[in-house]
Amino acid sequence: MVTNASAGHNGAAPGQNGKTYPITDHTFDVVVVGAGGAGLRATVGCSQAGLRTACVTKVFPTRSHTVAAQGGVAASLGNMGSDNWKWHMYDTVKGSDWLGDQDAIEYLCKNAPQAVYELEHWGVPFSRTEDGRIYQRPFGGMTTDFGKGPPAQRTCAAADRTGHAILHTLYGQALRNQTEFFIEFFAIDLIMDEDGRCVGVVCLKLDDGTIHRFRAQMVILATGGYGRAYFSATSAHTCTGDGNAMVLRAGLPLQDMEFVQFHPTGIYGAGCLITEGARGEGGYLTNGEGERFMERYAPSVKDLAPRDMVSRAMTMEVREGRGVGRNKDHIFLHLDHLDPAVLHERLPGISESARIFAGVDLTREPIPVIPTVHYNMGGIPTNYHGEVLRKKDGDPDVIVPGLMAIGEAACVSVHGANRLGSNSLIDLVVFGRAAGLKAAQVVTPGTKQADLPKGSAEMALGRLDRFRNASGATPTAEIRLQMQKVMQANCAVYRTGETLEEGSKLIHEVWGGNEDIGIADRSLIWNSDLVEALEFDNLIVQAVVTMDGANNRTESRGAHAREDYAERDDKAWMKHTLATIDPESKEVSIDYRPVHSYTMSNDMQYIEPKARVY
Ligand code: FUM
Repeated sequence: MVTNASAGHNGAAPGQNGKTYPITDHTFDVVVVGAGGAGLRATVGCSQAGLRTACVTKVFPTRSHTVAAQGGVAASLGNMGSDNWKWHMYDTVKGSDWLGDQDAIEYLCKNAPQAVYELEHWGVPFSRTEDGRIYQRPFGGMTTDFGKGPPAQRTCAAADRTGHAILHTLYGQALRNQTEFFIEFFAIDLIMDEDGRCVGVVCLKLDDGTIHRFRAQMVILATGGYGRAYFSATSAHTCTGDGNAMVLRAGLPLQDMEFVQFHPTGIYGAGCLITEGARGEGGYLTNGEGERFMERYAPSVKDLAPRDMVSRAMTMEVREGRGVGRNKDHIFLHLDHLDPAVLHERLPGISESARIFAGVDLTREPIPVIPTVHYNMGGIPTNYHGEVLRKKDGDPDVIVPGLMAIGEAACVSVHGANRLGSNSLIDLVVFGRAAGLKAAQVVTPGTKQADLPKGSAEMALGRLDRFRNASGATPTAEIRLQMQKVMQANCAVYRTGETLEEGSKLIHEVWGGNEDIGIADRSLIWNSDLVEALEFDNLIVQAVVTMDGANNRTESRGAHAREDYAERDDKAWMKHTLATIDPESKEVSIDYRPVHSYTMSNDMQYIEPKARVY
């Protein structure tokens, strides 16, 4: 659908050199920013509820990063053996190292089966069992009987292209439900009114450089993670956490940003993902001595331990001189013992990736792999309806009116300190749906909206104009590389006070350096030079709060493994970090909010913390 009666040219904002930026205004009930799995699912829900909904996206919807998700979507369907949402909940709480909010985790796991059946009915071409049910494979940390039983087969798969299948299906549903798409529109900044309500978002239309101001009763951020703050990541180059950065610039906090997930099996050198489904189908890791070393680190689940543990074990093997390859700096993943017919049927995508990016025929040779940045557990704090939260007058759960966040951009927090594989796709659809339901409750279709605050586009266009005219000595590519190298070296799988202290100093220097960016292209039409500068400006603030949050948290929990504080410290640290920035003084402030130590209903009791062994 491409029509909207309430669009019109009715504004302009001044830029440098006496030029102005004409503004096209749009009014919707809801604006969803981002068209990955979460954004599209929320879009469908809002549209179905009769809300006039726009979906604004910087890439074509089916190119959103959800398309790259491989191994599957977790739900306790029990198609391959007994399963139960309570076991899924137990595993997710334990996987989170008790930093996850248990009310939200209950909501996720309880609603997961229905969300998967909905996808099935909408047309997702799941792989099938012999008797026609959805095929499910084991994934790390997914067990049965509250951790006492064998691994659960809980991850519903469409071969190893599950994200691709889901994303295309959701886009079809969104079109079917009359959502209006604004494709290749880059969101620059939120519009907040003086009472702290979000009332819209300002965007740059990439193909012609025009400025679009969207006014809405509800803005839903579904802008994904910020993996590209690191040098080597499985994330697409578009994963620059644009929504997270807009939230920081609006003076709101990001939560638990120190928790960055390294996926154990990124292809050595290239960083491309080799799905955990490979180990789910029977693959295993070996070191330079040909040893299946995971047996030493996680005797019961071995290669199917959660990602943080496998990544640490691999790092330890390499550090202790037992890596593979000329420099003994990586690990082998074996699938060469499996039936080629199984590989062809269940893992066709990674068979191709291994050939193209590692030059390996995985039916005959192992794949060289290394832990690679994959996911951000931290993000915009929300409740399980997707409503954004801030701390005010001591109350940690005050709702920011007009603003929601979902998907990897959000920190609900269901993944806590470490996400289990295949809990991301389910998070997208469960909380995408939840956001649609909540929006339908709090937004009245077609209500006349208040005039936008004076100067509503000033912050966005001030930034745009500054970078567009930036004439410093440092190209964006150079400063971005500096940031990525600092993050990769100083905020890695293992961390120490020394590396983090140094990392904080270095990453703040990089932040200061963005005053010296120079861009060569002053035009507005398809100006990738300008967009990359704006994306870098988004990444660097997230890099800074990640590093400073990690330096501040003096314990080890989930993906945050400190060698100088090797133990989890529930007394001091069972709390969420809240980080805010002052963009002028370039300082970070840290505060906290409590982890929810209660469940959503009496169906499940609070799961008491204990040692996390597998
Ligand atoms: O390994 C994978 O297929 C990734 C899944 C996930 O991150 O959930």
